[in-house]
Amino acid sequence: MPAYAVIGGQWGDEGKGKVVDYLAERVDGVVRYAGGNNAGHTVVNDKGEFHLHLVPSGICWPEVYGIIGNGVVVDPEALLGELRELGDRGIDTERLCISERAHVTMPYHVLLDALDEESRGELAIGTTGRGIGPTYIDKTARMGIRVGDLLDPDSLKPRLEQTLDYKNKVITAIYGGEALSLDDVLAKALAWGEELRPYVRPTEQIVQDLLAQDRKILLEGAQGTLLDLDHGSYPYVTSSSPSIGGACTGLGLNPQAIAGVLGVYKAYSTRVGGGPMPTELFDDTGDKLREKGHEYGVTTGRTRRVGWFDAPAGRYSQQVNGFTGMVLTRLDILDGFASVKICVGYRAGGEEIARFPADTRLLEKCEPVYEEMPGWKEPTARATDLAQLPENARAYVRRIEELVGCPVQIISTGPGREETILVDTVIP
Ligand code: IMO
Ligand code: MG
Repeated sequence: MPAYAVIGGQWGDEGKGKVVDYLAERVDGVVRYAGGNNAGHTVVNDKGEFHLHLVPSGICWPEVYGIIGNGVVVDPEALLGELRELGDRGIDTERLCISERAHVTMPYHVLLDALDEESRGELAIGTTGRGIGPTYIDKTARMGIRVGDLLDPDSLKPRLEQTLDYKNKVITAIYGGEALSLDDVLAKALAWGEELRPYVRPTEQIVQDLLAQDRKILLEGAQGTLLDLDHGSYPYVTSSSPSIGGACTGLGLNPQAIAGVLGVYKAYSTRVGGGPMPTELFDDTGDKLREKGHEYGVTTGRTRRVGWFDAPAGRYSQQVNGFTGMVLTRLDILDGFASVKICVGYRAGGEEIARFPADTRLLEKCEPVYEEMPGWKEPTARATDLAQLPENARAYVRRIEELVGCPVQIISTGPGREETILVDTVIP
């Protein structure tokens, strides 16, 4: 009853969407377990190029269930928009299932995300502005609205009445903003409920039944381990658990069901928003990487911060998740560099820092210690076999493998489904 997880090993945007689309052919269901439409997963295949935020990245395979688990937060407007767009492009979305337990991102969450960020001033997190943090706050505070509530006006109205009264006090008294109207929000929520109703299914049961029938599922991570609420560079994190623990709670899955955990890493580093990034480059090399890799956010269009591969951070993610294999993406972006660097350790205040530190202030002070390796002139772009890679590129991959401490099973050499080297079987 195997489940396989695909999890971001860095600060998000590692190319999880491509990897999930590539692997989904071998499974019966693709499941999102955490995050919301802060994710931006790009899939390029024979049907076109898709930017997915809430819909699981296996959607282009007509036989595969797309499941939105209980741990996800759902902005119905965003989801319905995505479904319409997919429908218009000829993609069948009938196999989408949404957990009735998933929490709903309401209009006041989006508003409060913006107001919270504004009030943080210099300490702003640089969120995606999608209301993710405020939705999880309400889930934890036990005042959230769940997808199931949208289907039941009798349950929704009193809950919303109470919550909105509280939220409006915060919006007006603390932030001097404008209160939202209960009638408007209620009408919107009920309309969403009607549109979503056909998709709302007992996802925990569906997942467990699939596994009991020995069918395979793929757990699609969003964000990345270094953005994990517990394990990331707090407070510059997202409000959910993108790492492996989140897959169990965000789905109602027992850990024994998980047969493999794939860590997805870019061949260099990127980060969007605030927070420390030890290998960040501010020079021409950084600009070159950014332009070549077109490192601009899929969700917000923001410029991504770029830098060399950070092995201590990578190893830390490997340990948090117990990655059984690694996917290295965007190797082709490094084609043509005279040399490439890997951060193999940190120094702060003259001291060696052995581990990715929990103390964010210390991480801010960490200076990378680099190892420089010769680059490669011959392209890796579009390679489909390990033998096609120049020797220096192979040496680079081997070094990353060694430093992170797990074998590379897939190398991505371009955005398309076919631009992939399957080094080792991931899903038998
Ligand atoms: P995918 O799934 C990259 C970042 C935001 C911000 C922080 C908190 O595409 O890898 P939030 O809106 O979640 O409260 O923002 O997390 N962030 C991401 N960065 N990729 C993502 O998702 C991200 N989702 C959130 O930029 O720094
Ligand atoms: Mg993204």
